[in-house]
Amino acid sequence: MAKLKTKWICQNCGYETPKYMGKCPECGSWSSFVEEVFNVETPQKTNSALNDSKVYAINQIKSDERARFKTGFEEFDRVLGGGAVSGSVILIAGDPGIGKSTLVLQTANTIAKSGRKVLYVCAEESATQVKLRAERLNVNSENIFVYAQTDIDNIKKEIKNIQPDFLVIDSIQAVFDREITSSAGSVSQIRECTNVFTEIAKAENITTVIIGHVTKDGSIAGPRVLEHMTDVVLNFEGDKYKTYRLLRSIKNRFGCTNEIGIFNMAENGLCEITNPCEIFLSERSKAVTPGSTIIVASEGSRIITAEIQALVGTTNYPAPRRVANGTDYNRLLQILAVIEKRVGLKFNNSDVYVNITGGIEIDEPAADLGIALAIITCSRDVIVSPDTVLVGEIGLAGEIRKVNNIEKRISEAQKLGFKKILVPKGNLGTSNKFEIEIIEVEKISDAITSCIQR
Ligand code: TYD
Ligand code: MG
Repeated sequence: MAKLKTKWICQNCGYETPKYMGKCPECGSWSSFVEEVFNVETPQKTNSALNDSKVYAINQIKSDERARFKTGFEEFDRVLGGGAVSGSVILIAGDPGIGKSTLVLQTANTIAKSGRKVLYVCAEESATQVKLRAERLNVNSENIFVYAQTDIDNIKKEIKNIQPDFLVIDSIQAVFDREITSSAGSVSQIRECTNVFTEIAKAENITTVIIGHVTKDGSIAGPRVLEHMTDVVLNFEGDKYKTYRLLRSIKNRFGCTNEIGIFNMAENGLCEITNPCEIFLSERSKAVTPGSTIIVASEGSRIITAEIQALVGTTNYPAPRRVANGTDYNRLLQILAVIEKRVGLKFNNSDVYVNITGGIEIDEPAADLGIALAIITCSRDVIVSPDTVLVGEIGLAGEIRKVNNIEKRISEAQKLGFKKILVPKGNLGTSNKFEIEIIEVEKISDAITSCIQR
């Protein structure tokens, strides 16, 4: 008879302990431990692809000739760093219903069109459900094979059989290995199944996309445990009630991280947004109100122009409210403290709300100046002239600190037809090749005098 043993595993990070614990010492999450049963006699699986390897001097190792290929879905290629690398394993994580299946099916379509074979394993839906989505997305290629299966042994057989160039596992939480006694979606199942797919991907040179759901309550294993097992980790995020979706690269062994792709979820699938600046500014009203500013943010290789709105009003609460929508809460508190000290405005009886319009998230420090001036103009009931863009990080002494990619930001502002841009002093250097008026500011008080209109 099989010899069974139990372990308690944190479903958030994979930490193991022989006894139940209320709080995970590794990741700090509460009530995340679940008891999982193991067969002690099953040999431990390892990454067999590396078992027979030898030691080489680094200059004697042949560089990997495995090519990067374009998936044909441009925003997706951009996030991957210029296309997918053959044999790489890509994890796409996101909330349920955000559009992960849609994204991979559309990618599968463009890949199939280039003559590559795709195997789409739908472990959550039936093949007919996938077909329905495919019809909506106008996906109809003889190169896409759909397999509704959850048992990893069957999936392995079919991978051998079909020999795809691109494999999709939708989702890893629904796939299970019979040899592991715990239920599908538990950390040990997820870890083991990912191991198997990673091995196959490397051995057979199959680019593999693994989809993982993130759950807030921790009852199903979040894909956090997978993050170090895969080559690329992409987060698919967005507000469920808005149509914008961001694909953000968190880890990329073959390219730079912090790259983002922007999509719009429409009737028939995700459309690529190649010029996000115009979209995020399109709803801005012509008559600028106090508390509205424009910033140019830099995310990865991408420059995004966005509007910041602030609302400052007398509070009705014992503790005044501070709300940061689309930006970092602690950063907002710090900016408020600097304004109180260096500009002299008081917020102890005021609620402060800050919102980045369009449902996007911007948490880089270069947005500080825009946030500060939105707050200041709202509380003084004045405006920043509508043709002005603000860029700069604010230090605790009220100084405006330099930011990266300044030339790109300025040229984007110029391209969009803005007349004036405030930048940190000394950030640009001496080479000013721009037509837009550039105002260098050293302190927050300089910024106030140079851009506020009454
Ligand atoms: P889906 O890809 O199934 O999400 P996930 O795999 O992340 O759970 O898509 C979820 C939502 O997207 C669904 O609520 C409907 C919407 N949707 C569109 O708006 N347009 C479309 O063309 C498709 C296919 C889906
Ligand atoms: Mg899905």
